[in-house]
Amino acid sequence: MKAVRTTQYQRFQIVPMSNASRPAASSAIPSNPARVIAPRVPLPTDKELVLKVVPMPADCNANGDIFGGWVMAQVDIAGSIVPARYVRGRMATVAVNEFIFKQPVRVGDILSFFGGVTRIGRTSITVQVEVYAERYDTQGHYIKVTEASLTYVAIDDQGRPRPIERPEV
Ligand SMILES: CC(C)(COP(=O)(O)OP(=O)(O)OC[C@H]1O[C@@H](n2cnc3c(N)ncnc32)[C@H](O)[C@@H]1OP(=O)(O)O)[C@@H](O)C(=O)NCCC(=O)NCCS
Repeated sequence: MKAVRTTQYQRFQIVPMSNASRPAASSAIPSNPARVIAPRVPLPTDKELVLKVVPMPADCNANGDIFGGWVMAQVDIAGSIVPARYVRGRMATVAVNEFIFKQPVRVGDILSFFGGVTRIGRTSITVQVEVYAERYDTQGHYIKVTEASLTYVAIDDQGRPRPIERPEV
């Protein structure tokens, strides 16, 4: 048995030694069910593009898809961008109110993170984040892979909540 690489970005596949020296046949490429069933969707117009990133092989889980914790970390960063404009100083994530992994994320996907404020409280701001993937072989075709709601709290030098200046309307 030998591990051979089947596509530019895909996981390695174990094949018998007798086949290992041959070029991988197209039928050996693992099917990508998410690409087949995931609907193509328009990008949000009520949110701001706050982050773009491409996951790497080191970010994979044991299935060969991208580890959910990696996606959560990127969402936490992306979600903080819009609140930072209001908070203007230190802040902390106080809650992940909701987190939905709608489709798997794959190595080589171009991920676009959109953020929009849904609530501004006295010391906290809640943000909705939506993540869209362009698969590495179907760029320009977006599918929604993740959506989440997070709350950030403005904190002072002692780490205590501090009031947010509400934007003038
Ligand atoms: C963030 C922190 C300073 C808040 O302190 P606290 O004593 O819980 O503050 P409060 O109870 O006064 O709540 C502060 C704000 O957070 C909101 N909040 C608190 N708990 C919440 C929760 N579970 N869900 C949503 N909002 C919450 C409150 O509604 C309040 O918002 P408002 O003033 O706009 O109404 C404190 O919890 C903390 O330091 N947590 C650790 C933060 C951290 O390390 N984050 C990174 C983790 S990866």
